[in-house]
Amino acid sequence: MYACICHQITEKELEETMEQSHGNVNEAVRKLNLGGSCGICLIDALEKVAAKSPAKDSKKQ
Ligand code: FES
Repeated sequence: MYACICHQITEKELEETMEQSHGNVNEAVRKLNLGGSCGICLIDALEKVAAKSPAKDSKKQ
């Protein structure tokens, strides 16, 4: 499934780039040029990152 239709970036590519960027969202966005066209994909990408963040997990405890 695509994370970014405009640049044909898959969710897997996004996840791998996030890992390579050590969770640095800005770096991953820059590397992939995510959101570089319409920008709609940034909203979903940031929501997914927020859902996986350790801070959110720690609130569950
Ligand atoms: S869907 Fe990513 S820039 Fe348009």
